[in-house]
Amino acid sequence: MCGIIGYTGSANAIPKMMKGLSVLEYRGYDSVGVAAQRKNGTEIVKCKGRIGALEEKLRDEPIEDSRCAIGHTRWATHGGPSDENAHPHRAGKVVLVHNGIIENYKELRSELLGKGAVFLSETDTEVAAALINDCYAAEREPVAAIRKAAARMRGAFAFAILFDGREGEVYVIRRGSPLILARGRDGFYLASDMTALLPFTREYCALKEDEIACLLPDGVSICPADGTRFPPEWKTTTMTPESAQKGGFAHFMLKEIHEQPAAVVKSVSPRVNSKGLPDFSADGINADFWRSVRHIQVVACGSAMHAGLLGQRLIEDYAKVPTTVHIASEYRYHPPVMSEGTLVVVISQSGETADSLAALRYAKEQGIPTLAIVNAVETTIAREADRRVYTYAGPEIAVATTKGYCTQASVLWMIALAMAHAAGRLTDEKAREAVNCLLRDVPAAMEQMLSREDRYRKAARGLINHEHVFYIGRGIDYALSMEAALKLKEISYIHCEAYAAGELKHGTISLVEAGTPVLAISTERDLFDKTESNIREVRSRGAQVTLICRSDIAVPSETADELISLPVSSNAATVFSALLAVQCIAYEAASLLGCDIDRPRNLAKSVTVE
Ligand code: F6R
Repeated sequence: MCGIIGYTGSANAIPKMMKGLSVLEYRGYDSVGVAAQRKNGTEIVKCKGRIGALEEKLRDEPIEDSRCAIGHTRWATHGGPSDENAHPHRAGKVVLVHNGIIENYKELRSELLGKGAVFLSETDTEVAAALINDCYAAEREPVAAIRKAAARMRGAFAFAILFDGREGEVYVIRRGSPLILARGRDGFYLASDMTALLPFTREYCALKEDEIACLLPDGVSICPADGTRFPPEWKTTTMTPESAQKGGFAHFMLKEIHEQPAAVVKSVSPRVNSKGLPDFSADGINADFWRSVRHIQVVACGSAMHAGLLGQRLIEDYAKVPTTVHIASEYRYHPPVMSEGTLVVVISQSGETADSLAALRYAKEQGIPTLAIVNAVETTIAREADRRVYTYAGPEIAVATTKGYCTQASVLWMIALAMAHAAGRLTDEKAREAVNCLLRDVPAAMEQMLSREDRYRKAARGLINHEHVFYIGRGIDYALSMEAALKLKEISYIHCEAYAAGELKHGTISLVEAGTPVLAISTERDLFDKTESNIREVRSRGAQVTLICRSDIAVPSETADELISLPVSSNAATVFSALLAVQCIAYEAASLLGCDIDRPRNLAKSVTVE
């Protein structure tokens, strides 16, 4: 949700800004801009639209000789997408870019208006620039000015700031929003996430909450409040530049769908011990901890919440530990009852989602143990949770998650097995067999499903001329249906609802008429007969039914118009195959409709505002 980047060093800064911004565009793409220091001062070029629009502007107004610059790609919050609202913003001697939201910007704005400030945009960011400028006038020193201004601001922010007359210096601060610093051969960088820095370097340091840093062409200092200065502790990321590129696929989403078989192995294998049993010791979690858990509250947003719903069924089925799933943005306003033995599990691919972070902080304030299931390493949620389990999916660039969700599901599956095994509900033999299914059957089945594009395209053709589509399923398949419906909606813009198959007849079936597409998922053998009855109910009212079903069930030909069969080497293999099928159907529908698959309208990858 908004991407920021910056550079100071010996090389030409603008090409670096453009390269980094093109990677960061998935965080928001309403407007884009850069500010570059030149001999005569700091120049800003910005516009509504995507990076191509900025490239065009820079062709007309080139900035050739800058060695120090900041850049921004925006997901509009305060003020719509426009040239004026685009970042960077200037106020007096300050030019800055911002990711986040300043909640008390109205009161700050009127205070600053009273002091004679003039605002050209509707943004909270311009207010922050004016506040820092005001503090700079009093303090005459950037770090003190930033600290003073930050103390007045409520909300979330990561700022990259240039001050007039301070050549080659970029100042940064973060609270709630992510910020990564990096060391390259020709200078120092900052960005909202590591993927934007991979074209330049793999050496990084994640800035901590409320930390201020100063980047110079020859070094970086972290600047704590006691006036001392110290260098960052640089680490080397395992990500490679290739991992953030499309690698021959038409879209990142398709690439990420294809990466899933390997991603499942990467997420499961670190949690398997030498005896082949589920074991989270490498994550600092032992069997006693699992045994101490009496009740789990899963908190997450969107697809991560859907992964939680899948996990709920698995944990309750295997480990018999009561599990509830909560939408993160609702959690702290209507918190469920917590008691001795409650564990709060926060799931987040990005590790930065503001609602999930707020829920995590709320749980911690109540003194409840927390565990985060996160993909992006060293992110705020991962750092702040008491325990963390990384999904190791690698960078996910497409806005619609696929491998992120898939690896959340596989980690939750392993948690369910580990808890059941620790509680003595699963013998060594059964636990080993279940782990093997995840490591062996799931990737093989998903690989097999990847080659069925023609089936997915055919199913997608049946959807694209309709305004409303339904997914139905029971048990785990209802949880999968929710994710399937979200995938279809967000990238193809076709309205789609997920229903528990037995629930449709309690009202919503009135929307089914001749030709209405209904996709039914059936991965649970025992539930097939019931689901089939529900399919008959919609078919007899004219629905066009696509059934995504395990292949060991003899489906009568009159049950569905289209059948997509799923491998049945194990239950897990069937579930993950169904997931892959619904992701591919959404992808094909969006592709047939000519949608911008990796960057759906109105969305951003990392939602760092509440
Ligand atoms: C949908 C999607 C979103 C995210 C949600 C949570 O495809 O990607 O619904 O799942 O915004 O994001 P994270 O997992 O980063 O907290």
